[in-house]
Amino acid sequence: MPRTHILSTGFRVPDRVVTNDDLASMMDTSDAWIRQRSGIEERRWVEEGEAGSDLGAAAAAMALERAGMKAEDLDCLIVATLSPDHFFPGTGVFLQRKLGIRDIPCLDVRNQCTGFLYGLSIADAWIRTGRYERILLVGTEVHSTGLHRNDFGRDTAVLFGDGAGAVILGPVGPAEGGRGDGNGSAPERGILSVHIHADGRFAEKLWVEAPASKYDPLISHEHIDAGLTCPSMDGREVFRQAVSRMPEAVREALDAEGLSIDEVDMVIAHQANLRICQMVQRALGLSDDRIYNNIQRYGNTTAASLPIALHECVEEGRLRCGDLLCLTAFGSGFTWGSALIRW
Ligand code: ACO
Repeated sequence: MPRTHILSTGFRVPDRVVTNDDLASMMDTSDAWIRQRSGIEERRWVEEGEAGSDLGAAAAAMALERAGMKAEDLDCLIVATLSPDHFFPGTGVFLQRKLGIRDIPCLDVRNQCTGFLYGLSIADAWIRTGRYERILLVGTEVHSTGLHRNDFGRDTAVLFGDGAGAVILGPVGPAEGGRGDGNGSAPERGILSVHIHADGRFAEKLWVEAPASKYDPLISHEHIDAGLTCPSMDGREVFRQAVSRMPEAVREALDAEGLSIDEVDMVIAHQANLRICQMVQRALGLSDDRIYNNIQRYGNTTAASLPIALHECVEEGRLRCGDLLCLTAFGSGFTWGSALIRW
């Protein structure tokens, strides 16, 4: 059975930069508060009419170009988002249309900050079993239009940003091995394993309550006035679980592969909050050069955060062929997971 590998990466963030001082002019907050609690310095917001599928299509176009492929070469598309363009159909079909392709399946994944890992798990299984050969996996989010950009929403509005990241996945054989192990045999490149989890007992700890088909009508003025259309978060519970679940998931992946944390060259954790990422780093005993963070510039882009960070990590030359990479995420649901990849 072939292994799945990430053949290329791409990303796109909106041009509009929103600094902490910009937010302080909209709500009762400050640059110092935001930096100290989250590490975020600025984030990107879309212009009116710019959708998650637009950001995703641009990220996908970059990934396709870097893979030396055309959109017509894809045989499957997976989109992870918690901020779909519309209630239905899913963002996948809009993205497909913007890429100018037809007749390939478009799967929408709704697992929030862990959505990219859920998508990776599905893509990996399909490629390993030969179901599809070239899968585009996109994480894309437009948070800005759903935030309360005033005092009422300040606890979440300062955290989230817009953006998209994309990867092209395909099979690799043993012949395409990476860095040698010193004994003449190179370790096989590609995804070693993906591990995904969920615990629905915490669904309301981080959620957007409406629009919701369980209400009749699914959206009303009362819902809007009560703030139900904006994210609601129990920040302390999110923090408490995120800092334990992500290291736990990293160790699970290492145990599954019989590897140790000392063998990991780079960890990319979901860019939830710099303080959370620093606690993950400490829990795993990683030096600064073995963890990658870019939340300072983009805020929390949920399903897009891992592929955006991966793209920038690659662009900055921080990942070398044969390096052992570990991705981990935690988010609404609660959901969490990890992936080990021989780069
Ligand atoms: N600016 C200024 N003050 C604010 C803001 C803001 N944007 N938002 C909230 N506050 C106020 C609160 O109203 C509260 O005021 P009060 O004490 O007068 O009631 C006070 O700040 C709370 O501050 P802290 O005491 O620091 O609260 P806490 O230690 O609980 O920290 C925080 C809150 C930062 C949300 C913390 O719980 C946290 O970091 N949680 C993680 C949440 C997170 O990062 N989520 C990311 C998205 S989820 C994901 O991706 C997995």
